[in-house]
Amino acid sequence: MAEDLNILKGSKEEQYENLLPQIKGLLDGETDLIANLANVAAALKEQFDFFWVGFYLVKEDELVLGPFQGPVACTRIKKGRGVCGSSWEQAKTLIVADVEKFPGHIACSSLSKSEIVIPLYKESIIVGVLDVDSSSHDSFDETDQLYLQQIIDLIHF
Ligand code: SME
Repeated sequence: MAEDLNILKGSKEEQYENLLPQIKGLLDGETDLIANLANVAAALKEQFDFFWVGFYLVKEDELVLGPFQGPVACTRIKKGRGVCGSSWEQAKTLIVADVEKFPGHIACSSLSKSEIVIPLYKESIIVGVLDVDSSSHDSFDETDQLYLQQIIDLIHF
């Protein structure tokens, strides 16, 4: 495994295409979930310089903060609360162009402006979410959803 990421500038697609095999390399042969989530968060942050990227994991009836990169964040989110809790409750990916317009959005930081949250599955059960935040409005679209889903699919939960 290479210690350094090869960071590419270019279109969003080109950046994800460059990152995907490198994330695969980082995950290959490692079975520890926390180690893998930590490296995925770090790789995404390094390539895209997202404001915040990280994982919340389901523990009993809440999402609890897991490995992340970015400013400190709220540690526990109830089902149905905020974008993360809504993604969990609705069992679907949520793309929010302007977080201030999302009812019940949890403002961990006023600098976060848009967000994508993707549920994580182990078999058919949601075991957490990937949350990526941007400091600009309208940063995420179907391209992010497609590639972030492919990255998540590399992780064994
Ligand atoms: N904004 C999220 C909370 C998590 S932080 O952004 C890291 C939400 O509304 O679910």
